[in-house]
Amino acid sequence: MALSSYVEAMIDEKDWYITNLSNVAACLWQQLPDVSWVGFYLIADKDTNVCISADSENAELILGPFQGKVACTHIALGRGVCGVSAAENKTLIVPDVSQFAGYIACDSEAKSEIVIPLCNADGKVVGVLDIDSNTMGRFTEPNEESADLEKCAELISKILP
Ligand code: SME
Repeated sequence: MALSSYVEAMIDEKDWYITNLSNVAACLWQQLPDVSWVGFYLIADKDTNVCISADSENAELILGPFQGKVACTHIALGRGVCGVSAAENKTLIVPDVSQFAGYIACDSEAKSEIVIPLCNADGKVVGVLDIDSNTMGRFTEPNEESADLEKCAELISKILP
């Protein structure tokens, strides 16, 4: 079964979005092979931590629900794979993180990464889904898996504030 089918079945719109994001992170962590970190960064106001969209002044990414090792808590828009993905509203697939200018190494063992933006109903970026692997080339180019993960991101976007 496609991962997005699990995610669709698991999301309960009546629940708090953090509750849904927590279980989605756990589901992706359980189902995806060869990953070292799965989680969300959400766009929030630097001073208040209240969720806003990426085009707001004072916006930055803050750590949301995840599975894996302790991670960076704040990422500026345009910095690292997550910050660039959020600023450009673009999925980024990085086969070798050492080749990504400005890569933020939360875990020195991470080698490969995919980051997918999450957009609200108005099409504005409100966060990212970030997945890391300790295997070089685990994420190389758009494929069936990345398309399915983009579908997961679309489903998740629907329940974000
Ligand atoms: N490597 C990311 C930072 C987040 S961690 O991987 C969990 C980046 O460059 O944006």
